[in-house]
Amino acid sequence: MARRKKIYEGKAKILYEGPEPGTLVQYFKDDATAFNNVKKDVIDGKGVLNNRLSEYFMTGLNTVGVPTHFIRRLNMREQLVRSCEIIPLEVIVRNYAAGTMAKRLGMEEGVQLPRPIVEYCLKDDKLGDPLVTEEHIAAFGWASQQDMDDILSLALRVNDFMSGVMYGVGIKLIDFKIEVGRVFDGDFQRLVVADEISPDSCRLWDIETDRKLDKDVFRRDLGSLTDAYTEVARRLGVMPKGATSMAKPKLIN
Ligand code: TYD
Repeated sequence: MARRKKIYEGKAKILYEGPEPGTLVQYFKDDATAFNNVKKDVIDGKGVLNNRLSEYFMTGLNTVGVPTHFIRRLNMREQLVRSCEIIPLEVIVRNYAAGTMAKRLGMEEGVQLPRPIVEYCLKDDKLGDPLVTEEHIAAFGWASQQDMDDILSLALRVNDFMSGVMYGVGIKLIDFKIEVGRVFDGDFQRLVVADEISPDSCRLWDIETDRKLDKDVFRRDLGSLTDAYTEVARRLGVMPKGATSMAKPKLIN
């Protein structure tokens, strides 16, 4: 069988050429990385969980009218997406202080912010994804003013949707990151939510106990990452029980 053409390999996903023009296949790996690739591991079943969870969130967003690149899930580890031109920014929305913002501003993690705060980081691993302002974005032409208006509106709509979905299953959405891409319909360009939305790119805390159910479990060695992601999937009702253990064939004695 002819091998598919690999378009790009990132830390947690691989992009392959899709079956039709304008499409890509997004493959979710089990690799986990943190601190800009300094901490690395392979977490059995993480890719399967993130594929399902990202499908769940992206489908929900499409349904409520927030455009995404997601078309459909193909199998346990792959989904079909629209190919788009990624804007080179990590768009972060924060509802509670945590991570780099808590550190930067000397705030205690978990303190509720007066309103959602949107931040932009330049997507550049060599530089460690530095925080940038709208001035940098405009001056260096990474996105236009119209793009920035659309990105802000998309980010806040994703935040409202994700906060509500999470609240419904007893989880606080502390913060998250999205990437935004341009798709072209003829001469007409529009922006869509791209990449993935999963516990790899969100901070999720149990409302009652503040137990962390996201990648901080891996970053900070707080226990089993698969258990945390499985708990999110279980609460949302998106995973059939034990599905991650089907990720790899097992030897039967
Ligand atoms: P942040 O606190 O800035 O960084 P870190 O995760 O290194 O502590 O991250 C805010 C949120 O955005 C958090 O949920 C993780 C997510 N994020 C990514 O998924 N990828 C990224 O490249 C960045 C900068 C953030």
